[in-house]
Amino acid sequence: MADTRKVAVLVGSLRKESLSRKTALALAAIAPASLTLEIVEIGELNHYNQDLDDAAAKPAAWLAFRDRVRAADAVLFITPEYNRSVPGFLKNAIDVGSRPYGQSVFSGKPCGVISVSPGALGAFGANHHIRQSFVFLDMPTMQQPEAYIGGAATLFDAQGAMTNDKVRELLERYVTRFAEWVEQHAKK
Ligand SMILES: Cc1cc2nc3c(=O)[nH]c(=O)nc-3n(C[C@H](O)[C@H](O)[C@H](O)COP(=O)(O)O)c2cc1C
Repeated sequence: MADTRKVAVLVGSLRKESLSRKTALALAAIAPASLTLEIVEIGELNHYNQDLDDAAAKPAAWLAFRDRVRAADAVLFITPEYNRSVPGFLKNAIDVGSRPYGQSVFSGKPCGVISVSPGALGAFGANHHIRQSFVFLDMPTMQQPEAYIGGAATLFDAQGAMTNDKVRELLERYVTRFAEWVEQHAKK
């Protein structure tokens, strides 16, 4: 067993006060010592275009992103919902990491999804829509506990600290189970 497992966290929001990012940071703070959670930034990735991938000089941002995810043992997606689906640039990051064909950096990596919304439904639509990609990407996806974080605008104080005990407990259960999931499914 490795000492610590590295988890690449992909956050589906670019805004400064993002509730998804606050959730990611709260989760990193309560994760067991066996996991290291690191946000891998995805906002600057060029739109996927196979012509660029076929060229000798591929976009540097793509190469750096692929290296970061390749080096991780697992991937955690923490995302809001845009129009009942996944924010476009998060889908773009998935597409960038999945190519060139046969060289996906996601292949076989254990993953999980936490969806976050100020609304009551907890971004259920995005949470389930993104899972469709994990089937083709061959990512063992943790099913339980599910994490649809609703009413998220009320969960953090001005410093970004989580103020809701029930949600903190859910995140603790989630990340504890995720550590077990990663240990079961990580490649090395
Ligand atoms: C383009 C767009 C589409 C949205 N669609 C949804 C939606 O389908 N469901 C939902 O719960 N919230 C939706 N919202 C509201 C987001 O949940 C809200 O802006 C949230 O705070 C975004 O996540 P963040 O705080 O991590 O940036 C949408 C917001 C935007 C900008």
